[in-house]
Amino acid sequence: MIRETVRSWGLSPLLNAGVNLQTLFWSVAILIFIVHYLLPGLGELRWTIKAQSLGKLVPRERKPWFPFNILRIRRVIKMFREQKRMEFMREQIKASANPNNPNTIRVSMLTRRIILTTDPENIKAVLATQFTDYGKGEKFNKEWHDFLGDSIFTTDGDLWHNSRNLLRPQFIKDRVSDLEIFETHAMSLIQILSNTKGEPVDISELFFAFALDAATDFLLGKSSHSLQNQQDEFAKAFKVVQTRQLMNSILGPLKLLVLRDQIMAVLLAGRDTTACTLSWLFYELSIHPHVVAKLRQEIETTVDLERAPTYADFKNMRYLQSTLNETLRMYPAAPFNVRVALKDTTLPHGGGSDGNQPIGIPRGTEISYAPLIMQRRADLYPSDQLPAEEFSPERWEHWFPKSWTYIPFNGGPRICLGQQFALTEMGYTVVRILQRFSTVECRQPDNKAPAMVTDIVVSPHHGVTISLFE
Ligand code: HEM
Repeated sequence: MIRETVRSWGLSPLLNAGVNLQTLFWSVAILIFIVHYLLPGLGELRWTIKAQSLGKLVPRERKPWFPFNILRIRRVIKMFREQKRMEFMREQIKASANPNNPNTIRVSMLTRRIILTTDPENIKAVLATQFTDYGKGEKFNKEWHDFLGDSIFTTDGDLWHNSRNLLRPQFIKDRVSDLEIFETHAMSLIQILSNTKGEPVDISELFFAFALDAATDFLLGKSSHSLQNQQDEFAKAFKVVQTRQLMNSILGPLKLLVLRDQIMAVLLAGRDTTACTLSWLFYELSIHPHVVAKLRQEIETTVDLERAPTYADFKNMRYLQSTLNETLRMYPAAPFNVRVALKDTTLPHGGGSDGNQPIGIPRGTEISYAPLIMQRRADLYPSDQLPAEEFSPERWEHWFPKSWTYIPFNGGPRICLGQQFALTEMGYTVVRILQRFSTVECRQPDNKAPAMVTDIVVSPHHGVTISLFE
């Protein structure tokens, strides 16, 4: 029978070469046993004993019995190809977690032990109350070193602290409330949008150029002018490497290499996050005309349809703030994030039979937390509100999220340094565009929502195509 099977798989040359099939069969079986069951099993056992000595365990992801997850691979490939990482993670957690608290599970991948969580109590511990127990870790630093250097994003401890102190003066209120920087670039953007005369345009591509111009101007006093060079092949290719080269040319005179690494990292972070958030915001405007009408009404009464808005104006624009909040709730620019336990420690929630006991976390365990999933958790919203999956700035009029259930800018000592800058930049842009254009229409192929590409940031697959009318 083995012979028949080998033949049917087209491996007759093996038979012809006189290979002893029984030996071959047992060798493969033993290899599978060692690689798939024994080694991971031993690693798992060691981890489990350590974790139990520190606290309770959380449920483990349900693994199929078949070797190497072969039966599941097709589904994983399909879901990732369809850009459904959020749905995939949701499925994993739901299928395995304790039903009493279905928000935290444990996943093993070869030698890695990962806790997936969407529990605000656990996220608060990692980012704030047990801040020194967790960090980005050495592996993260190594993986991202070529791209982000030893910058604020890739370091822990003193190195991180020094970076933060070095960068903080850039973000003081006086600098962030200087809106002139945004005016020049917003005008360039509006000029390009006016030229479309209602023809469909991928607005996200323009937002990437706009956000880079504003961030370079703000941090370096010199703009990359990528909006004005839209036709330029170099400026068009907004890939990481090209952007890095572009940055190098602007940063050339900066002799201080450390500062250069830092600023490069911040520029890239500042560009992608605001560009993606603005893109999603305009996608939602294109399918919610009543939000456009309400925003324009607020602009008319607070500013008017001509004058440039001031910092003080923004304080009075509640609906604009709600629209930004709601966009960041549904599309938190950093959708998934990760920390690693720097020592043996715990997390407060998710273990034991009731799912609410502290869990043991051996050193080296990765904690993957997902603002994108948590901020769409139905059970975190009052039942008389619109469902969590629906875009509704109105929900913010009589409701405010409980602490640590809404964290688009993270929280704790590593909270986003650019938060005020980003909110002001995005608010300014929305006001300036809606002063000029009264209607935003969706021009997505088949009117379909863009798929969410969830890499470091959550970006719209193939951009956001809309038409704007004055
Ligand atoms: C919608 C816009 C933005 C969002 C949603 C956002 C979100 C975040 C998040 C989630 C983190 C934490 C990353 C981590 O520690 O794993 C972060 C960190 C940071 N962000 Fe932002 N960001 C935005 C815009 C900006 C802008 C425009 C700048 C600068 C121009 C900026 C500068 C920084 C810096 C320097 C850090 C590192 C803080 C630290 O580790 O101490 N961000 N941001």
